[in-house]
Amino acid sequence: MVVLGAGPAGLVLGNLLLDSGVDCVVVERAEAAQVRTRARAGFLAAHTVRVLQRHGLDEGLRRRGQEHGVCEFRTADGGFRLDYGRLGRGERHTVYPQQELVGDLLTRFVGRGGRVRFGVEAVAVLDADTGRPSVSVREADGRPGGFRARYVAGCDGRHGAARRSLPAGSVRRYPCDHGVTWLGLLAQAPPSMDAVGYAVHERGFAGHMARSSDVTRYYLQCERGTPAGAWSQERIWDELDLRMRAKEHGPLERGPFTQRSVVELTSDVLEPLRHGSLFLAGDAAALISPSAAKGANLAVLEAELLALALVADLLHGDPTGLDSYSARCLAHIWRAQEFSHWMIGLLHGPSGRDGGSPFHHALWRSRLDSLRTSRSRQDWFAEHYVGV
Ligand code: APR
Repeated sequence: MVVLGAGPAGLVLGNLLLDSGVDCVVVERAEAAQVRTRARAGFLAAHTVRVLQRHGLDEGLRRRGQEHGVCEFRTADGGFRLDYGRLGRGERHTVYPQQELVGDLLTRFVGRGGRVRFGVEAVAVLDADTGRPSVSVREADGRPGGFRARYVAGCDGRHGAARRSLPAGSVRRYPCDHGVTWLGLLAQAPPSMDAVGYAVHERGFAGHMARSSDVTRYYLQCERGTPAGAWSQERIWDELDLRMRAKEHGPLERGPFTQRSVVELTSDVLEPLRHGSLFLAGDAAALISPSAAKGANLAVLEAELLALALVADLLHGDPTGLDSYSARCLAHIWRAQEFSHWMIGLLHGPSGRDGGSPFHHALWRSRLDSLRTSRSRQDWFAEHYVGV
Protein backbone atom coordinates (compact mmCIF):
# COMPACT_ATOMS: atom_id res chain seq x y z
CA MET A 1 0.00 0.00 0.00
CA VAL A 2 1.38 3.43 -0.91
CA VAL A 3 -0.04 6.49 0.87
CA LEU A 4 0.73 9.86 -0.70
CA GLY A 5 0.95 12.72 1.80
CA ALA A 6 1.61 12.93 5.55
CA GLY A 7 -1.22 15.28 6.53
CA PRO A 8 -4.11 14.31 8.82
CA ALA A 9 -5.65 12.06 6.14
CA GLY A 10 -2.46 10.19 5.21
CA LEU A 11 -1.25 9.74 8.78
CA VAL A 12 -4.57 8.54 10.25
CA LEU A 13 -4.77 6.09 7.36
CA GLY A 14 -1.13 5.03 7.81
CA ASN A 15 -1.57 4.41 11.54
CA LEU A 16 -4.71 2.33 11.10
CA LEU A 17 -3.17 0.23 8.32
CA LEU A 18 -0.03 -0.33 10.39
CA ASP A 19 -2.09 -1.37 13.44
CA SER A 20 -3.89 -3.95 11.30
CA GLY A 21 -0.67 -5.33 9.87
CA VAL A 22 -1.07 -3.95 6.33
CA ASP A 23 2.31 -3.13 4.84
CA CYS A 24 2.41 0.50 3.76
CA VAL A 25 4.78 3.35 2.99
CA VAL A 26 3.92 7.05 3.27
CA VAL A 27 5.51 9.30 0.62
CA GLU A 28 5.78 12.95 1.68
CA ARG A 29 7.19 15.82 -0.35
CA ALA A 30 8.07 18.02 2.65
CA GLU A 31 10.70 17.41 5.30
CA ALA A 32 9.63 16.06 8.70
CA ALA A 33 10.31 19.36 10.50
CA GLN A 34 8.05 21.21 8.09
CA VAL A 35 5.23 18.69 8.47
CA ARG A 36 5.41 19.03 12.26
CA THR A 37 5.32 22.83 12.31
CA ARG A 38 2.85 23.84 9.57
CA ALA A 39 0.12 25.79 11.39
CA ARG A 40 -3.25 25.23 9.75
CA ALA A 41 -6.64 24.24 11.15
CA GLY A 42 -7.35 23.54 14.82
CA PHE A 43 -11.01 22.77 15.52
CA LEU A 44 -11.71 19.07 15.92
CA ALA A 45 -15.35 18.04 15.87
CA ALA A 46 -16.71 15.58 18.45
CA HIS A 47 -16.88 12.86 15.79
CA THR A 48 -13.22 13.38 14.90
CA VAL A 49 -12.20 13.07 18.53
CA ARG A 50 -14.20 9.83 18.80
CA VAL A 51 -12.44 8.39 15.73
CA LEU A 52 -9.05 9.28 17.17
CA GLN A 53 -10.03 7.85 20.58
CA ARG A 54 -11.32 4.64 19.04
CA HIS A 55 -7.92 3.94 17.54
CA GLY A 56 -5.71 5.20 20.37
CA LEU A 57 -4.59 8.29 18.42
CA ASP A 58 -5.83 10.82 20.97
CA GLU A 59 -3.13 10.89 23.64
CA GLY A 60 -1.83 14.39 22.85
CA LEU A 61 -5.23 15.97 22.34
CA ARG A 62 -6.52 14.47 25.58
CA ARG A 63 -3.66 16.14 27.43
CA ARG A 64 -3.36 19.44 25.59
CA GLY A 65 -6.65 19.95 23.70
CA GLN A 66 -9.17 22.48 25.04
CA GLU A 67 -12.91 21.81 24.94
CA HIS A 68 -14.83 24.54 23.23
CA GLY A 69 -18.57 25.08 22.85
CA VAL A 70 -19.47 28.75 22.39
CA CYS A 71 -19.48 31.11 19.44
CA GLU A 72 -20.29 34.78 19.43
CA PHE A 73 -21.68 36.85 16.59
CA ARG A 74 -21.05 40.59 16.52
CA THR A 75 -23.23 42.61 14.18
CA ALA A 76 -24.56 46.13 13.76
CA ASP A 77 -27.76 44.94 15.47
CA GLY A 78 -25.84 43.89 18.58
CA GLY A 79 -24.01 40.75 19.54
CA PHE A 80 -25.32 37.34 20.53
CA ARG A 81 -23.73 34.15 21.80
CA LEU A 82 -24.63 30.58 20.96
CA ASP A 83 -23.70 28.02 23.58
CA TYR A 84 -23.68 25.36 20.87
CA GLY A 85 -22.25 22.75 23.24
CA ARG A 86 -25.68 22.80 24.93
CA LEU A 87 -27.73 22.91 21.73
CA GLY A 88 -28.44 20.31 19.05
CA ARG A 89 -26.74 17.06 20.06
CA GLY A 90 -24.80 18.76 22.85
CA GLU A 91 -21.45 18.22 21.14
CA ARG A 92 -18.39 20.42 21.38
CA HIS A 93 -15.14 21.05 19.54
CA THR A 94 -11.70 20.29 20.85
CA VAL A 95 -9.21 23.01 20.00
CA TYR A 96 -5.95 21.34 19.11
CA PRO A 97 -3.58 22.84 16.53
CA GLN A 98 -3.39 20.66 13.45
CA GLN A 99 0.42 20.56 13.43
CA GLU A 100 0.35 19.05 16.93
CA LEU A 101 -2.10 16.37 15.82
CA VAL A 102 0.05 15.67 12.76
CA GLY A 103 3.14 15.54 15.01
CA ASP A 104 1.43 13.03 17.36
CA LEU A 105 0.30 10.84 14.45
CA LEU A 106 3.78 10.90 12.95
CA THR A 107 5.54 10.06 16.20
CA ARG A 108 3.21 7.13 16.79
CA PHE A 109 3.49 5.86 13.21
CA VAL A 110 7.28 5.97 13.11
CA GLY A 111 7.52 4.66 16.70
CA ARG A 112 5.64 1.53 15.67
CA GLY A 113 7.88 0.89 12.70
CA GLY A 114 5.88 2.78 10.04
CA ARG A 115 7.89 3.98 7.03
CA VAL A 116 7.70 7.60 5.87
CA ARG A 117 9.83 8.80 2.96
CA PHE A 118 10.26 12.52 3.61
CA GLY A 119 11.50 14.86 0.90
CA VAL A 120 10.20 12.50 -1.79
CA GLU A 121 7.72 14.00 -4.22
CA ALA A 122 5.13 11.84 -5.94
CA VAL A 123 5.09 12.77 -9.62
CA ALA A 124 2.33 10.53 -11.00
CA VAL A 125 0.17 7.54 -10.20
CA LEU A 126 0.45 5.08 -13.08
CA ASP A 127 -1.66 2.08 -14.10
CA ALA A 128 -4.41 2.96 -11.60
CA ASP A 129 -6.92 1.13 -13.80
CA THR A 130 -5.06 -2.14 -13.20
CA GLY A 131 -4.55 -4.21 -10.05
CA ARG A 132 -0.85 -3.23 -9.92
CA PRO A 133 -0.66 0.56 -9.81
CA SER A 134 2.63 2.35 -9.28
CA VAL A 135 3.78 5.77 -8.18
CA SER A 136 6.66 7.53 -9.88
CA VAL A 137 8.57 9.85 -7.55
CA ARG A 138 11.39 12.34 -7.44
CA GLU A 139 13.75 11.28 -4.65
CA ALA A 140 15.21 13.83 -2.23
CA ASP A 141 18.41 14.00 -4.32
CA GLY A 142 16.41 14.66 -7.51
CA ARG A 143 16.78 11.17 -8.98
CA PRO A 144 13.64 9.42 -10.28
CA GLY A 145 12.26 6.48 -8.35
CA GLY A 146 9.05 4.57 -7.83
CA PHE A 147 6.83 2.34 -5.72
CA ARG A 148 4.48 -0.43 -6.75
CA ALA A 149 1.54 -1.62 -4.63
CA ARG A 150 -1.91 -3.20 -4.69
CA TYR A 151 -3.58 0.15 -3.89
CA VAL A 152 -2.58 3.80 -3.76
CA ALA A 153 -4.20 6.32 -1.39
CA GLY A 154 -4.05 9.90 -2.63
CA CYS A 155 -3.91 12.00 0.55
CA ASP A 156 -1.63 14.61 -0.98
CA GLY A 157 -3.96 17.60 -1.00
CA ARG A 158 -5.46 19.76 -3.69
CA HIS A 159 -2.29 20.15 -5.78
CA GLY A 160 -0.97 16.62 -5.29
CA ALA A 161 -0.01 13.91 -7.76
CA ALA A 162 -3.18 11.85 -7.16
CA ARG A 163 -5.53 14.52 -8.54
CA ARG A 164 -3.16 15.28 -11.40
CA SER A 165 -3.00 11.62 -12.43
CA LEU A 166 -6.74 11.14 -12.92
CA PRO A 167 -7.38 10.65 -16.65
CA ALA A 168 -9.63 13.25 -18.24
CA GLY A 169 -13.26 12.19 -17.94
CA SER A 170 -12.63 9.54 -15.25
CA VAL A 171 -14.10 11.67 -12.47
CA ARG A 172 -16.41 14.63 -12.41
CA ARG A 173 -15.23 17.87 -10.80
CA TYR A 174 -17.42 20.31 -8.90
CA PRO A 175 -15.35 23.46 -8.44
CA CYS A 176 -16.82 26.56 -6.80
CA ASP A 177 -15.31 29.97 -6.18
CA HIS A 178 -17.29 31.50 -3.32
CA GLY A 179 -16.13 34.97 -4.36
CA VAL A 180 -14.67 35.87 -0.96
CA THR A 181 -11.04 36.33 0.12
CA TRP A 182 -9.65 36.28 3.65
CA LEU A 183 -6.35 37.35 5.08
CA GLY A 184 -5.43 34.48 7.42
CA LEU A 185 -3.36 35.62 10.40
CA LEU A 186 -1.69 33.79 13.24
CA ALA A 187 -1.05 36.14 16.16
CA GLN A 188 1.39 35.53 18.97
CA ALA A 189 -1.23 36.81 21.39
CA PRO A 190 -3.68 35.25 23.85
CA PRO A 191 -7.29 34.82 22.72
CA SER A 192 -9.33 38.01 23.20
CA MET A 193 -12.57 36.25 24.09
CA ASP A 194 -13.74 32.88 25.41
CA ALA A 195 -15.63 32.06 22.21
CA VAL A 196 -15.16 31.74 18.49
CA GLY A 197 -15.84 35.28 17.31
CA TYR A 198 -17.63 36.06 14.06
CA ALA A 199 -17.87 39.76 13.27
CA VAL A 200 -20.18 40.71 10.46
CA HIS A 201 -19.46 44.28 9.48
CA GLU A 202 -20.19 46.53 6.54
CA ARG A 203 -16.42 46.72 5.93
CA GLY A 204 -16.28 42.91 5.74
CA PHE A 205 -16.02 39.83 7.92
CA ALA A 206 -13.52 39.37 10.75
CA GLY A 207 -13.03 36.14 12.70
CA HIS A 208 -11.33 35.17 15.97
CA MET A 209 -10.40 31.58 16.88
CA ALA A 210 -8.30 30.48 19.84
CA ARG A 211 -5.44 28.11 19.10
CA SER A 212 -3.75 27.97 22.51
CA SER A 213 -3.28 30.21 25.56
CA ASP A 214 -0.83 32.41 23.66
CA VAL A 215 -1.70 31.92 19.98
CA THR A 216 -4.85 33.14 18.23
CA ARG A 217 -5.99 32.87 14.63
CA TYR A 218 -7.70 35.85 13.05
CA TYR A 219 -9.32 36.22 9.66
CA LEU A 220 -10.00 39.49 7.90
CA GLN A 221 -11.97 39.65 4.69
CA CYS A 222 -10.05 41.58 2.06
CA GLU A 223 -10.24 42.52 -1.60
CA ARG A 224 -9.27 39.73 -3.95
CA GLY A 225 -5.69 40.23 -5.11
CA THR A 226 -4.50 41.82 -1.85
CA PRO A 227 -0.93 40.60 -1.19
CA ALA A 228 -0.52 38.93 2.24
CA GLY A 229 2.01 41.55 3.32
CA ALA A 230 0.10 44.57 2.04
CA TRP A 231 -1.13 45.82 5.40
CA SER A 232 1.04 46.86 8.36
CA GLN A 233 0.47 45.06 11.68
CA GLU A 234 -0.92 48.30 13.10
CA ARG A 235 -3.43 48.66 10.28
CA ILE A 236 -4.55 45.04 10.64
CA TRP A 237 -5.11 45.38 14.40
CA ASP A 238 -6.99 48.66 13.90
CA GLU A 239 -9.19 47.04 11.27
CA LEU A 240 -9.78 43.98 13.49
CA ASP A 241 -10.72 46.29 16.39
CA LEU A 242 -13.15 48.12 14.17
CA ARG A 243 -14.86 45.06 12.70
CA MET A 244 -14.87 43.12 15.99
CA ARG A 245 -16.45 46.24 17.53
CA ALA A 246 -13.83 46.58 20.24
CA LYS A 247 -15.42 49.81 21.47
CA GLU A 248 -18.55 47.92 22.53
CA HIS A 249 -17.06 44.53 23.40
CA GLY A 250 -13.57 45.35 24.68
CA PRO A 251 -10.16 45.63 23.00
CA LEU A 252 -8.35 42.74 21.32
CA GLU A 253 -5.14 41.32 22.80
CA ARG A 254 -2.48 42.46 20.34
CA GLY A 255 0.77 40.72 19.44
CA PRO A 256 3.00 40.15 16.42
CA PHE A 257 1.65 38.15 13.48
CA THR A 258 3.81 35.08 12.97
CA GLN A 259 2.07 33.87 9.82
CA ARG A 260 -0.02 35.49 7.10
CA SER A 261 -1.69 33.94 4.12
CA VAL A 262 -4.31 34.86 1.59
CA VAL A 263 -7.20 32.40 1.57
CA GLU A 264 -9.54 32.47 -1.40
CA LEU A 265 -12.70 30.68 -0.32
CA THR A 266 -13.14 27.87 -2.82
CA SER A 267 -14.49 24.34 -2.92
CA ASP A 268 -13.63 21.59 -5.34
CA VAL A 269 -15.27 18.18 -4.98
CA LEU A 270 -14.40 15.15 -7.10
CA GLU A 271 -16.82 12.35 -7.82
CA PRO A 272 -16.25 9.44 -7.49
CA LEU A 273 -13.33 9.36 -5.02
CA ARG A 274 -11.86 6.34 -6.71
CA HIS A 275 -10.25 5.54 -10.01
CA GLY A 276 -9.51 1.80 -10.15
CA SER A 277 -6.82 1.14 -7.55
CA LEU A 278 -6.40 4.80 -6.60
CA PHE A 279 -8.50 6.18 -3.71
CA LEU A 280 -8.71 9.83 -2.71
CA ALA A 281 -9.10 11.22 0.82
CA GLY A 282 -8.87 14.62 2.51
CA ASP A 283 -8.24 17.74 0.45
CA ALA A 284 -7.30 15.55 -2.54
CA ALA A 285 -10.87 14.24 -2.53
CA ALA A 286 -12.72 17.45 -1.76
CA LEU A 287 -11.51 20.91 -1.02
CA ILE A 288 -13.83 22.81 1.31
CA SER A 289 -13.77 26.47 2.31
CA PRO A 290 -12.54 27.06 5.88
CA SER A 291 -15.74 28.93 6.84
CA ALA A 292 -16.94 26.13 9.14
CA ALA A 293 -13.60 24.39 9.86
CA LYS A 294 -14.65 21.13 8.23
CA GLY A 295 -11.54 20.25 6.17
CA ALA A 296 -9.44 18.39 8.72
CA ASN A 297 -12.54 16.73 10.19
CA LEU A 298 -13.62 15.33 6.84
CA ALA A 299 -10.04 14.17 6.24
CA VAL A 300 -10.05 12.09 9.45
CA LEU A 301 -13.52 10.66 8.77
CA GLU A 302 -12.53 9.59 5.25
CA ALA A 303 -9.20 8.16 6.39
CA GLU A 304 -10.96 5.90 8.90
CA LEU A 305 -13.51 4.69 6.34
CA LEU A 306 -10.77 4.03 3.80
CA ALA A 307 -8.56 2.20 6.31
CA LEU A 308 -11.38 -0.12 7.43
CA ALA A 309 -12.31 -0.82 3.80
CA LEU A 310 -8.71 -1.52 2.76
CA VAL A 311 -8.14 -3.85 5.71
CA ALA A 312 -11.35 -5.76 4.90
CA ASP A 313 -10.26 -6.15 1.29
CA LEU A 314 -6.56 -6.87 1.75
CA LEU A 315 -6.79 -9.14 4.81
CA HIS A 316 -10.25 -10.70 4.46
CA GLY A 317 -10.95 -10.54 0.72
CA ASP A 318 -14.06 -8.41 1.25
CA PRO A 319 -14.22 -5.54 -1.30
CA THR A 320 -17.64 -4.16 -0.28
CA GLY A 321 -16.20 -1.34 1.84
CA LEU A 322 -13.99 -0.18 -1.01
CA ASP A 323 -16.94 -0.34 -3.40
CA SER A 324 -19.07 1.91 -1.19
CA TYR A 325 -16.22 4.17 0.03
CA SER A 326 -16.82 6.98 -2.44
CA ALA A 327 -20.59 7.19 -1.99
CA ARG A 328 -20.36 7.08 1.80
CA CYS A 329 -17.76 9.86 1.92
CA LEU A 330 -19.57 12.01 -0.59
CA ALA A 331 -22.74 11.99 1.52
CA HIS A 332 -20.72 13.55 4.37
CA ILE A 333 -18.78 15.85 2.05
CA TRP A 334 -21.88 17.37 0.46
CA ARG A 335 -23.54 17.94 3.84
CA ALA A 336 -20.40 19.73 5.01
CA GLN A 337 -20.19 21.72 1.78
CA GLU A 338 -23.81 22.78 2.11
CA PHE A 339 -23.32 24.00 5.68
CA SER A 340 -20.01 25.74 4.89
CA HIS A 341 -21.65 27.50 1.96
CA TRP A 342 -24.50 28.61 4.22
CA MET A 343 -21.93 29.93 6.71
CA ILE A 344 -20.24 31.95 3.96
CA GLY A 345 -23.57 33.65 3.26
CA LEU A 346 -24.14 34.24 6.98
CA LEU A 347 -20.68 35.68 7.67
CA HIS A 348 -20.29 37.93 4.66
CA GLY A 349 -23.78 39.17 4.04
CA PRO A 350 -23.77 42.63 2.52
CA SER A 351 -20.07 42.51 1.67
CA GLY A 352 -20.31 39.10 -0.03
CA ARG A 353 -20.90 38.38 -3.68
CA ASP A 354 -24.71 38.54 -3.63
CA GLY A 355 -24.77 41.25 -1.03
CA GLY A 356 -25.18 44.30 -3.17
CA SER A 357 -28.95 44.50 -3.44
CA PRO A 358 -31.26 45.72 -0.67
CA PHE A 359 -33.19 42.47 -1.08
CA HIS A 360 -30.12 40.34 -0.28
CA HIS A 361 -29.24 42.64 2.59
CA ALA A 362 -32.67 42.14 4.14
CA LEU A 363 -32.50 38.37 3.62
CA TRP A 364 -29.15 38.24 5.33
CA ARG A 365 -30.37 40.24 8.35
CA SER A 366 -33.30 37.89 8.63
CA ARG A 367 -30.96 34.89 8.52
CA LEU A 368 -28.93 36.31 11.40
CA ASP A 369 -32.08 37.22 13.28
CA SER A 370 -33.55 33.74 13.07
CA LEU A 371 -30.25 32.34 14.38
CA ARG A 372 -30.42 34.83 17.24
CA THR A 373 -34.03 34.08 18.18
CA SER A 374 -35.20 30.66 16.98
CA ARG A 375 -34.33 27.69 19.19
CA SER A 376 -34.94 25.19 16.38
CA ARG A 377 -32.61 27.18 14.10
CA GLN A 378 -29.98 27.19 16.84
CA ASP A 379 -30.29 23.43 17.30
CA TRP A 380 -29.90 22.95 13.56
CA PHE A 381 -26.86 25.23 13.58
CA ALA A 382 -25.23 23.42 16.50
CA GLU A 383 -25.76 20.00 14.95
CA HIS A 384 -24.16 21.01 11.66
CA TYR A 385 -21.47 23.27 13.14
CA VAL A 386 -19.92 20.49 15.23
CA GLY A 387 -20.95 17.53 13.12
CA VAL A 388 -19.37 16.00 10.06
N1 APR B 1 4.06 14.10 -3.20
C1 APR B 1 4.15 13.81 -1.88
N2 APR B 1 3.52 14.54 -0.93
C2 APR B 1 2.77 15.58 -1.34
C3 APR B 1 2.64 15.93 -2.69
C4 APR B 1 3.32 15.14 -3.65
N3 APR B 1 3.24 15.39 -4.96
N4 APR B 1 1.83 17.00 -2.78
C5 APR B 1 1.47 17.31 -1.53
N5 APR B 1 2.04 16.47 -0.65
C6 APR B 1 1.89 16.45 0.83
C7 APR B 1 1.92 17.81 1.47
O1 APR B 1 3.25 18.25 1.71
C8 APR B 1 1.14 17.56 2.76
O2 APR B 1 1.98 17.16 3.81
O3 APR B 1 0.61 15.95 1.11
C9 APR B 1 0.22 16.40 2.40
C10 APR B 1 -1.23 16.80 2.36
O4 APR B 1 -1.63 17.16 3.65
P1 APR B 1 -2.78 18.23 3.93
O5 APR B 1 -2.65 19.35 2.98
O6 APR B 1 -2.75 18.51 5.38
O7 APR B 1 -4.11 17.47 3.49
P2 APR B 1 -5.06 16.43 4.22
O8 APR B 1 -4.32 15.40 4.96
O9 APR B 1 -6.01 16.04 3.17
O10 APR B 1 -5.81 17.31 5.32
C11 APR B 1 -6.74 18.27 4.91
O11 APR B 1 -5.92 19.85 6.54
O12 APR B 1 -5.22 22.05 6.93
C12 APR B 1 -6.20 21.27 6.55
O13 APR B 1 -7.20 22.70 4.91
C13 APR B 1 -6.76 21.44 5.22
O14 APR B 1 -8.44 21.01 6.58
C14 APR B 1 -7.77 20.45 5.49
C15 APR B 1 -7.03 19.25 6.00
